[in-house]
Amino acid sequence: MTIAVLIVAAGKGTRAGGGLAKQWRPLAGKTVIDHTIDAFLAQGLKTICVVRDPDCEVAAEVLGSYPDLILADGGLDRAGSVRNGLIALQKHGINRVLIHDAARPCVSASVIQAVIEALDHGPAAAPGLPVTDALWIGQDGAVIGTQDRSALFAAQTPQAFHFDAILAAHLAAQGDAADDVEVARQAELSVQITPGDSNNIKITRPEDFTRAETILRTSMTTLPDIRLGNGYDVHRFGPGDHVTLCGVRVPHDRSLQGHSDADVGMHAVTDALYGAMAEGDIGRHFPPSDPQWKGADSAIFLRHAVELARSKGFQIGNIDCTLVCEYPKVGPHAEAMRDAMAAIMTLDRDRISIKATTSERLGFTGRGEGIAALATATLVRA
Ligand code: CTP
Ligand code: MG
Repeated sequence: MTIAVLIVAAGKGTRAGGGLAKQWRPLAGKTVIDHTIDAFLAQGLKTICVVRDPDCEVAAEVLGSYPDLILADGGLDRAGSVRNGLIALQKHGINRVLIHDAARPCVSASVIQAVIEALDHGPAAAPGLPVTDALWIGQDGAVIGTQDRSALFAAQTPQAFHFDAILAAHLAAQGDAADDVEVARQAELSVQITPGDSNNIKITRPEDFTRAETILRTSMTTLPDIRLGNGYDVHRFGPGDHVTLCGVRVPHDRSLQGHSDADVGMHAVTDALYGAMAEGDIGRHFPPSDPQWKGADSAIFLRHAVELARSKGFQIGNIDCTLVCEYPKVGPHAEAMRDAMAAIMTLDRDRISIKATTSERLGFTGRGEGIAALATATLVRA
């Protein structure tokens, strides 16, 4: 399942005034769009397309610091920009797409996760904020009526879609739709409303910069919710010619025995993540009594723990894993193990540590009867 993020950043920002378009202007220590892009990267969403004005030098400079962005050219209106972005994403094998305004830099983890989750149940989802103010109908400066607000929502982004459905809808769309939900509705897609966030403002007018700055600085200074978890696992040796440690096949004159692929290091890391969330352990989520996990690739377990953490709004701070054995020697494989774990967890490798120790020939590990692994994980929620 590949989820892409499409950030539209090709507007002129006329209402925000002041020359340079709003998305390239400074805000709380970086530019507006840096906050926007970083909010998605922090959720492990790495396939990001930015639609921008190809002639804007500031845009090129700001976006140049992200090596893996997919770039597309702006259109005449927002819908045109989205269309260009979707077309640019077409060849990347995308299943789902989150379409977001660059001008909403305060988007939270929970708003992002809610739309992602909703796509398991339907083709489209978007955050909406119930309207709480009374609504009037005005004419010539006077109230001429009122409007029932009970069924009204203020629309936010990211608006999320099954990729093929929204691409087809955009290619067939008429007129200059205000947002992608309008395009989806034209194509008769049902759109689920997920919880919006009053802090997820769209910078529109000059005074919105001050509000966004306050929101971002507050979330930066509020003490984050930090969780620590530990994991410990042991597997015994049996006959065989290799072991699988932290996702890497290591030749050895014995194999580790177990119900799954017996990747003792990956199990310890997975349990550390579950532990940090107080979500039990692998056995609770993947009972060993269930035959479908026999011989299973342990990446399934690790991925589940990572996705559960992200669905709860946590970022993974780091993991640290120690393998305890006399043989095989782990050192020559440690970097490959970091890469394998980084790929499974969609996490930077500098947040992943894999190390090993012998136990001085003492105990069961010292006698070469099996391998033990210990792991620590930190989770952080802003
Ligand atoms: N957008 C875009 N391409 C356009 C128009 C808008 O990519 N042709 C993007 C904007 O950069 C913004 C988002 O769509 O991130 C929401 O649009 P809006 O807030 O209206 O931004 P602007 O159009 O830039 O602002 P204004 O309407 O004040 O000129
Ligand atoms: Mg506009």
